Amino acid sequence: MESMIRDITLAPSGHDKIEWVKNFMPVMAAVDEEFSKSKPFAGKKMVITLHLEAKTAYMAEIFHHAGAEVALTGSNPLSTQDDVAAALVEDGVHVFAWHGCTDEEYNTFIDRALDIKPDIVIDDGGDLVHMLHTKRRELLTGIIGGSEETTTGVHRLRALADQGKLEFPMIAANDAYCKYLFDNRYGTGQSTWDGIMRTTNLVIAGKTVVIAGYGWCGKGGAMRARGLGANVIITEVDPIKAIEAVFDGFRVMTMDEAAREGDIFLTLTGDKDVIRDRHFKVMKDGAMMANSGHFDVEINIPELEAMSKSRRKVRNNIEEFLQEDGRKLYLLAEGRLVNLAAGDGHPAEIMDLSFGVQFFSALHLLEHGKELEKGVHLMPDSINQRIAEIKLKSLGVSIDKLTPEQQAYLSMA
Ligand code: NAI
Repeated sequence: MESMIRDITLAPSGHDKIEWVKNFMPVMAAVDEEFSKSKPFAGKKMVITLHLEAKTAYMAEIFHHAGAEVALTGSNPLSTQDDVAAALVEDGVHVFAWHGCTDEEYNTFIDRALDIKPDIVIDDGGDLVHMLHTKRRELLTGIIGGSEETTTGVHRLRALADQGKLEFPMIAANDAYCKYLFDNRYGTGQSTWDGIMRTTNLVIAGKTVVIAGYGWCGKGGAMRARGLGANVIITEVDPIKAIEAVFDGFRVMTMDEAAREGDIFLTLTGDKDVIRDRHFKVMKDGAMMANSGHFDVEINIPELEAMSKSRRKVRNNIEEFLQEDGRKLYLLAEGRLVNLAAGDGHPAEIMDLSFGVQFFSALHLLEHGKELEKGVHLMPDSINQRIAEIKLKSLGVSIDKLTPEQQAYLSMA
């Protein structure tokens, strides 16, 4: 298979990036050590659609070491790092991705990767599974199963399954404890602010930060914004999450109210049109907007563009939208997930857990996929325990063990 990447000569810096993250991913190192010897994926083909940066590359290499033939595409046009893509090709993975690809190229990449005729797929956001169920239906019968990395993708899968149209078993990797508790909360919490800070080079302390959505990602974003000294406002549509935010000590209000107050707006909902024209109209001069939800639909950019006098790039990853009344509104990273489009994504230590979940989910599919029904499944909890144990050991943390008496007491009727 002929890879489609930007420039193979970029590979040296990609190798450096992969080498760096390897130092901080002990779960994946243990997986590599064990399964590069036993090669359980020998003869199997995989398509992986994920944000193509160093941690993802390390996981793809591990699947390759474990015997799989792997084709990889990016899961967002701006999150692909071309040097990492080049390094992966040198390491024997087929890669179809480049930074800043058009929507058409993005779909072509998934289509070409699927030519490998996968046994197992790993998706992030649902575009790969969508293509399998539409344009590439002839491949459906060959697929043992797959797994899905993010909340938005799991929503799409459940919608497909509810209509009785999901044609193979998919593991909701996102819904494993070892994924969402750490990745969505601490990963998104840190990397989103890293993306915003390195892009703007501005102080967060003292600013009013409006966070839309108090789910796992929103909680992380709010926690870290507070730690940086911001005054945080939460907007929600779920009354229970809203109460949680109140008791966590945040102000909660509607976006109509918050729009007048915010200096920085961050969407983390997985929903569309969360910030739109009527909000843009009342925002302060200089207000900044960023999104860390999966798709670039949370901030209504067409409406913002339509009501603006001009749109221009003022700094790498920052666009200014000049309003008729002279106010300037700023949009970061084209409204795409700011932590990946304007940063390197989650910290390596966090992706160590998420990709541990992905690896063991794929292994579970390999071993038990044929017995699983079509539909959305959770990863078995014993795998969460296994991943957490390796991680704790690597952190040098010991925990107590239940005595036989305690075990008996806890299982008493
Ligand atoms: P979640 O389901 O835990 O939380 C989403 C929250 O947004 C819910 O509490 C929901 O009530 C709220 N919400 C929905 N519509 C809203 C609206 N119009 N206004 C205010 N609140 C609204 O989902 P999670 O795990 O926090 O994920 C959120 C998004 O982030 C998803 O698109 C997910 O795929 C993405 N994600 C992005 C990551 C990144 O690296 N940037 C990492 C993990 C997830």
